[in-house]
Amino acid sequence: MIAIHNGKDGFHPEWVKYSKENNIPHKIVDCYSNNLIQQLEDCHALMWHFSQNNPKDILISKQILFSLQQSGMKVFPDFNTMWHFDDKLGQKYLLESLKLPFVQSYAFYTAETAISWAEKTTYPKVFKLRGGAGSTNVRLVENKKSAIYIINTAFGPGFSNYDRLGSFKESWRLYKLSKISIITLLKSALRMIIQPKFSEIMGMERGYVYFQDYIPGNDSDIRVVVIADKAFAIKRLVRKGDFRASGSGHILYEKALFDEVIIKLAFNASQKLKSQCIAFDFVYQDGNPLIIEISYGFAPHGYRECVGYWDSDMNWFEGKFDPYSWMLDLMLDEKYIDTK
Ligand SMILES: Nc1ncnc2c1ncn2[C@@H]1O[C@H](COP(=O)(O)OP(=O)(O)O)[C@@H](O)[C@H]1O
Ligand SMILES: [Mg+2]
Repeated sequence: MIAIHNGKDGFHPEWVKYSKENNIPHKIVDCYSNNLIQQLEDCHALMWHFSQNNPKDILISKQILFSLQQSGMKVFPDFNTMWHFDDKLGQKYLLESLKLPFVQSYAFYTAETAISWAEKTTYPKVFKLRGGAGSTNVRLVENKKSAIYIINTAFGPGFSNYDRLGSFKESWRLYKLSKISIITLLKSALRMIIQPKFSEIMGMERGYVYFQDYIPGNDSDIRVVVIADKAFAIKRLVRKGDFRASGSGHILYEKALFDEVIIKLAFNASQKLKSQCIAFDFVYQDGNPLIIEISYGFAPHGYRECVGYWDSDMNWFEGKFDPYSWMLDLMLDEKYIDTK
């Protein structure tokens, strides 16, 4: 029996639909319930698409999934797939250790070391908080003065996980493009005054600062998602007058947009990461793809228009497909069970 968290969005509805259609024994559980472990007694697996902006998930999802995995239960996502989720700082050390092609990144834990680096380095650089999605916590740093201002904030009052003004401007942009409703726009206006619960829970980001080299000349980024031995990709165009692609809402899907080299690289990296499901965001530097971040989770609506997928032998399968069923298959396939 597979337990699926009672989530209303993300992968959850897709998992339930596939289980029902294929008579896969499953049960819906509430992962926030005090008797979760009892609820799971007749289950061999738990699937939970926890999210970076759900306050309860931030508090406890990783701990619950790690505990269950340690007890021998199959989980999605498992430890290797998600310890680094929404943690760009953790990803830096992981990708460097595995010698994966990762954009040059810099992390500092004292103002002195950061300032001495900022005095000597070249600009522009990219400043990121360790968490965040849709480009919200990613900024271009044009010069030393801005870098030092950022460093002083990071080692002073810190940064909020929710950029009120930036988020409102982004909502306004999406509203004008008819990508969000007036209600969503109004909610965003309200959040100028009342910060969202998730950022309240996360508190301020302080005591570290994280930069990357700015890789110029990209009008897009490429996201390749690898789930077990299958991969699919999307190309996201940057916002007008901006260098940031993720969350722009301008997505392209044709197969010809994706170089085989980048797909092979993603398969290879996924194997090294030992992940069940992982999305790689790439930009190009002088024709070579570099990873800028990784993430186990993604929003299904951005991928519905994908036109096909590759297997790890680089065979192409044209047509619609159901990546959420592949995640479920992992829970049924002995080959991918993470041994204790
Ligand atoms: N080092 C970089 N050089 C050039 N562009 C970058 C760099 N890092 C990020 N970007 C751009 O900014 C966007 C958001 O960055 P990313 O690290 O993927 O954050 P998020 O988690 O918000 O998606 C990317 O989609 C990419 O277009
Ligand atoms: Mg990204």
